[in-house]
Amino acid sequence: MPSSLQDSFPSTPGKVKIDRSHYNLSRQINRWLSSSATLVFWSLFLLALTASFACLKTSFTVPQSHARGATTAAASWGGPAWEKQLRRSCETRRANAQVVLVTGAAGFIGTHVSLALKKRGDGVLGLDNFNDYYDPSLKRARQSLLARHGIFVAEGDINDGALLSKLLDFVPFTHVMHLAAQAGVRYAMENPNSYVHSNVAGLVSLLEACRKANPQPAIVWASSSSVYGLNSEAPFCEADRTDRPASLYAATKKAGEAITHAYNHIYGLSVTGLRFFTVYGPWGRPDMAYFAFTRNILQGKAITIYRARGGAELARDFTYVDDVVRGCVAALDTAQPSTGSGGRKRGSAQYRIYNLGNTTPLSVPQLVSILERHLRVKATRNVVEMPGNGDVPFTHANVTMARLELGYKPTTDLQAGLKKFVKWYLNYYGYEHNGKGKI
Ligand SMILES: *[C@@H]1O[C@H](CO)[C@@H](O)[C@H](O)[C@H]1NC(C)=O
Repeated sequence: MPSSLQDSFPSTPGKVKIDRSHYNLSRQINRWLSSSATLVFWSLFLLALTASFACLKTSFTVPQSHARGATTAAASWGGPAWEKQLRRSCETRRANAQVVLVTGAAGFIGTHVSLALKKRGDGVLGLDNFNDYYDPSLKRARQSLLARHGIFVAEGDINDGALLSKLLDFVPFTHVMHLAAQAGVRYAMENPNSYVHSNVAGLVSLLEACRKANPQPAIVWASSSSVYGLNSEAPFCEADRTDRPASLYAATKKAGEAITHAYNHIYGLSVTGLRFFTVYGPWGRPDMAYFAFTRNILQGKAITIYRARGGAELARDFTYVDDVVRGCVAALDTAQPSTGSGGRKRGSAQYRIYNLGNTTPLSVPQLVSILERHLRVKATRNVVEMPGNGDVPFTHANVTMARLELGYKPTTDLQAGLKKFVKWYLNYYGYEHNGKGKI
């Protein structure tokens, strides 16, 4: 690891730094060297030192962390083999192809977007820190899927400025699809710093690397429907106010919209923000309700369904991942180039924000009924009043702008989308032994 990394820290707190222990060790060595001991003593000492150093190294290979959200392994990058994988992953197979850096590529939406781009002949390089906010083995399985399609996921953190500079120096990316983030509304009460670290500091780190790059890539990134916060007028339009977030997660996404605007204004970076509405589907995130409901229903455990104060059902504008992916790709295709180069603005650049939703909100009990039908298992429901943990009572997207400017048209309803999710879930977790193995 280059020494410039000493001051960078992982996108989620709690990671053990190896470098400092080496530093202390060498100070000890220096002190011992300056004393006047006998030759026999020195050889014995060196032997002991070698042994203890080996022990130290072993004990540091797997940093232990107390909380979810800490990275599980030290990221390593660089070297000829690594560069070769980068180059191969970025090869294109069509005229006017894009070369896209996808952050959070081992995440749910990142995996699907990466596959869609690669399949049509674009160059795709993934970046992911594989943190353990949720089961990292699912991220590794997605990484294997991507590898089978010729997509390399570099292991590293968006807060690592040296790594980002290296990537953007090495490959002239036309676009950055920025999907890396600390997700989840409720977890923000448990680990608020991880949201600031990934969604604010990490975003700035990425924008800094992009504005210095030559050529500057166009940026498409994931905002969130949660920025509408306490708005009660439906459907939600892009022009509606977004200054009343109900969670820290929403606040960091709103901050991201403001921060990207500043970079657009100062450096001429082309920026498109996409407000995703409850995206679900195969390879989804285990912390989301539909995923946890499926797990619990299959394990015969009760599921907790929140109801708003006054008895109203919570409702979400559930959006199938393939629809969202088409919106992401259309955003990349319609993005104008950034106007700056090497950190200098040459003219005003594009700044856009779109809702990507489904336009048909369904209640959480309706979601559960559909899951029961697909799983052929009756759920045990435990209905409780929603605690004040940042969830909003409902979301509903107006996607007129995305339809007019991106050609966005969601085509998958919750019934059909959950059918595909359940099929994937049963297969992935081994409920069906049809001998076909994992998808
Ligand atoms: C949806 O948004 C468009 C502008 O993007 C607006 O003209 C239209 O009135 C909105 N529709 C509703 C039902 O709010």
